[in-house]
Amino acid sequence: MNDYDDCWLRYDRADADRLDSYRRLCRHAYVAEKSPELSAVRDELRRAIPGLLGEDPHLWQHPPSTAGGFLAIGTPDDMRMVADSVPVDEVERLTDGGFLLRTVEWEGQRCVVVTAPTDRGLVYGTFHLLRLMSVGDPVDDLDVREEPTYANRLLNQWDTPFHRSVERGYGGESIFDWERLPDLRERYEDYARLLASVGINGVVLNNVNTEKPPRPSAGEAFDAFEGWQLLESGRLEAMTGLVSVFRRYGIRTYLSVNFASPMLVGGLDTADPLDDEVREWWREKADEVYDLIPDFGGFLVKADSEGQPGPYDYDRDHVDGANAIAAALDPHNGRLWWRAFVYGSHEDRAVQAYDTFEPLDGEFADNVTVQVKNGPIDFQPREPVSTLFGAMPETDLGLEFQITGEYTGQGVHATYHLPMWEEVFEFDTHADGQGTPVKSLFRGDGEGVVGVGSVGEDDTWTGHYLMQSNLYAFGRTVWDPDRSVEEITDEWVRQTFGADEAVVDAVSEILRDSWEACIDYETGGLGLMHMMYNGEALLENHYDPSPGEWPGYHGVTEDGVGVDRTSGGSGYAPQYRDPVAERYESVETCPEELLLFFHHLPWEHELSDGTTVVQRLYDNLFAGVEEVERLRDLWRTLEGRVDEKRYRHVSERFDEQVAQAKRWRDTLAHYFYDHAGIPDEAGRVPNR
Ligand code: GCU
Repeated sequence: MNDYDDCWLRYDRADADRLDSYRRLCRHAYVAEKSPELSAVRDELRRAIPGLLGEDPHLWQHPPSTAGGFLAIGTPDDMRMVADSVPVDEVERLTDGGFLLRTVEWEGQRCVVVTAPTDRGLVYGTFHLLRLMSVGDPVDDLDVREEPTYANRLLNQWDTPFHRSVERGYGGESIFDWERLPDLRERYEDYARLLASVGINGVVLNNVNTEKPPRPSAGEAFDAFEGWQLLESGRLEAMTGLVSVFRRYGIRTYLSVNFASPMLVGGLDTADPLDDEVREWWREKADEVYDLIPDFGGFLVKADSEGQPGPYDYDRDHVDGANAIAAALDPHNGRLWWRAFVYGSHEDRAVQAYDTFEPLDGEFADNVTVQVKNGPIDFQPREPVSTLFGAMPETDLGLEFQITGEYTGQGVHATYHLPMWEEVFEFDTHADGQGTPVKSLFRGDGEGVVGVGSVGEDDTWTGHYLMQSNLYAFGRTVWDPDRSVEEITDEWVRQTFGADEAVVDAVSEILRDSWEACIDYETGGLGLMHMMYNGEALLENHYDPSPGEWPGYHGVTEDGVGVDRTSGGSGYAPQYRDPVAERYESVETCPEELLLFFHHLPWEHELSDGTTVVQRLYDNLFAGVEEVERLRDLWRTLEGRVDEKRYRHVSERFDEQVAQAKRWRDTLAHYFYDHAGIPDEAGRVPNR
């Protein structure tokens, strides 16, 4: 028994109504033998079946003839019984990861068949079946065909080996004990199971910040183990066991690497991407990595950003930088994920990524993916979508979401990101005319969607039981962005908390309404952002309010609020295609929830219903707190319906969230009042 939580893989006993048919069809399982993935499948059945059915599974190496019914898992190539009972050409047409679930008649027995063209698909198919049983769906007449929407569904674990910490991870220390590798911990496998159960097929093991600036000068040693050192030969060798744990679950491993690795790891005196020795060093390093890990996914690079080195150090551009490293990965079919999160000379950071990357469209090597955050700033509670989406048709792009809660309550607040991701996915970029939503992009073989992860050593994994939902929802929505928020949320709640309808309704409602509440109390809800405390150390905190620190992000002055990002201002709005650009450009048509992101307006500017901007900000701040109080009360109705441990944990978190929401509300309301000099009509903001 582990101390830590099973998250959504609890496998609690199925509903009595279903138990008979589940037992009849799934107690006996005939599973193909040949690969590591199939041994993971058998292990998963050994874990799940006793819980779900209250009986141990019988695992067979051939079709049982007298069981009366059984579960068969294998590719048509592996198992004749499968080939005989499903349309083989349909299976073969499925993309990697896709699977079929069918209930069939076979030699007088009724059987459930899980089949796929690849072993990875069998892992997903098995988890899918177990999910159906966990939520109480029937399995006696299955006809399911599933394929992942995006080829790459990656988790970026911002693990900083140095601290054994996870940057922006709020679930405790890192689960990876790097110093002890090749020793493995059971938790690694459980992590792989959680990821695979929602379809994630790649994991970047370490932080994009692979080096803690400033870099020591020559002769001075780093005093601790940093991310860039994972490319050292000994570290790579030690990692191969961990890589196989993920491989069993169909997950490929990637590493974040430092652009200056040729110097840091290789001892060269330059990392200039056009230098022959540097290119040769990358080639040899890639050969070494693939020798040890033949299915290695590739590298992720954060360059020229927040103290990390990059091509600008050598007067080269991002194409030069990315293509040099990509060339080393290319002979191995490896991919380079190159982040677009860069800073530059612009006063308004929003314009930077597009300005830097759009002119480079078509110049990146075929195995480079440019990885772009969902919005132009940095994982704020609400941002407009990045202007790069749809703007680089000749380049493979990846969309980067935040699973963890850097600016949304840091694993203390219950803030569910799925509604935000849906808003991003549904946004019409007009890239290919009307009807080109964000979700229709990223469908090339070298494209995909990435989530910045949240798990750590905490019993809860994510620091908050309810925030396990973000990890779950990320995988599920990236598998199929057409699946509704309600459906994904319902699945998660039922697997995590069981079938009590009062619990399902309350938890679903809490999750559904949590994001808008966070936007209201942390920003005032009209498109303002980045008003948090930065702390003494580089980029720390981001939890407490401190709107005076970076006025450039929200544009609060005596005469008004918001940032002019129109063509007459910083020029961000015109980076969109028409009619999106036109819509944002005009105060009249700009949606209210983003109004102050695009426009600097007088405090008394009237919104469509006649309310002034400053009054709406006050109202939203107060509404946000009231909403969190309501959600806390809703949770409190579940006392006695949810186990004591999780009930108390979430209750305490809610108390802290309410207190912190009030802190945000009061700080921002006073800050607005101090600049506007206009009192709240409802008299809630005390005159100081
Ligand atoms: C934010 C965050 C950093 C992170 C950076 C990134 O700035 O605060 O911790 O490194 O984003 O995405 O690279």
